[in-house]
Amino acid sequence: MSSKLSTFICQNCGTETSQYFGKCLNCNSWNSIVEEIKSKRSKFQDTKNSKKSVPFNEISSKKISRFTTGFKEFDRVLGGGIVPGSVVLLGGEPGIGKSTIVLQSAGKISVHEKVLYVTAEESLEQVKIRWERLNQKSIDLRIFAETNLSLIIEEIKRLNPSFAIIDSIQAIHNNEMQSSPGSVSQVRACSAELQNLAKDNNIALLIIGHVTKDGALAGPKTLEHLVDTVINFEGDNISSHRLLRSIKNRFGSTFEIGIFEMLEDGLREIKNPSSIFTNKENISGVTTTITNEGSRQLAVDIQALVNKTFYSNPRRTTTGISINRLHQILAVIEKHVGIKLSEFDCYIATGGGFEINDPSSDLGVAISILSSLKNIPPLANSSFIGELGLSGQVRKSNNLRKKIEEAVRLGIRNIVVPKLEEELNNNFKNLINIKEISNIKEAVNYSLSE
Ligand code: TYD
Ligand code: MG
Repeated sequence: MSSKLSTFICQNCGTETSQYFGKCLNCNSWNSIVEEIKSKRSKFQDTKNSKKSVPFNEISSKKISRFTTGFKEFDRVLGGGIVPGSVVLLGGEPGIGKSTIVLQSAGKISVHEKVLYVTAEESLEQVKIRWERLNQKSIDLRIFAETNLSLIIEEIKRLNPSFAIIDSIQAIHNNEMQSSPGSVSQVRACSAELQNLAKDNNIALLIIGHVTKDGALAGPKTLEHLVDTVINFEGDNISSHRLLRSIKNRFGSTFEIGIFEMLEDGLREIKNPSSIFTNKENISGVTTTITNEGSRQLAVDIQALVNKTFYSNPRRTTTGISINRLHQILAVIEKHVGIKLSEFDCYIATGGGFEINDPSSDLGVAISILSSLKNIPPLANSSFIGELGLSGQVRKSNNLRKKIEEAVRLGIRNIVVPKLEEELNNNFKNLINIKEISNIKEAVNYSLSE
């Protein structure tokens, strides 16, 4: 009861069409379309074994028992550990350290659980060399060097581990398909099969996928809806810091981050991340803000350099905050502080290039700019929190209490915040000096007096 059906799939963006085109209708790339034969199953084939719907009150809600990755930072990003039967996609640029972190984790997990590490990119010897570098203790980790999907599935079924790792999805292939490993069709087909395997056998699966900076390799992107959790491993080649960031999580909150450092013997968690993004020097052009990242608060420096311009259009560049945000802040300063900035270049960089998405960093950016412009250091040992409204008011920030607590923990003495809704001053008496302000002008007068 099956018939063959042809579809044409763009290997760049994954768009499906029913006929061949020389140029993809969606992403406009040339010669990227490949024909695929799908076998169409009859609609009535599976009806005999079909399941029935059940009333909600008959479903027992047993608590999910997660197991730890061995890294607190990794567990947090996953929402508290690995959920049995779930599929996690770990994406990142080549060379960022994906294989390293999973091998370290696999070593730690295998002390308590059965773990299988499938290496499709490296030989057994290469993994062993890395393993020795990482000082791992476990002796129970199983390793399998294979690129053929059906052999991988067979081995996973035979071994029935609690946790399996596929390193990487671009290197494995399904023999039944003609397209080459790493192509969108292969990546999607292999992941779909692995996903079914994980769900049917209650095996937690971690799939590694390479993504380039501009997302050019569309493969893993097209997988995001298939898996339960998507995590990105970020960092740059210059600094040794690495960030795990959850993009999607069916079992926890998103935008949670975990911070690591790449050392000679693998990745190490950073327990006090605020310390690596701040310098605690009181110099002009630098302020500290406290930003919200998932469920935690982090102190990050904001540096500004404001110089007279030699260009007809002043230069504005940012590292760590969005350029549009900077333009908006500059416009607010012009209008509501009354300082003309059109004759000045303005460069902004966050401490360690940390990407800040919390709008409450606006006030810190504005004070840094004015501090650099006037060449006056801001109020000593201080931190600035508040989103700038277009009319110059300082708007309230989420999790303000927790941000103040983080500032206290770091030994900051002064904090400039939006008007408080609850009475917090008493709670922090003698710990920190809280200055409530309602607009940018007030903040400038308070923090940048000569
Ligand atoms: P790797 O995990 O192979 O990256 P990916 O799997 O994401 O492609 O990491 C490769 C880089 O990490 C490589 O440049 C060497 C570096 N590295 C260390 O600095 N210390 C270590 O202990 C290990 C194993 C790798
Ligand atoms: Mg690798």
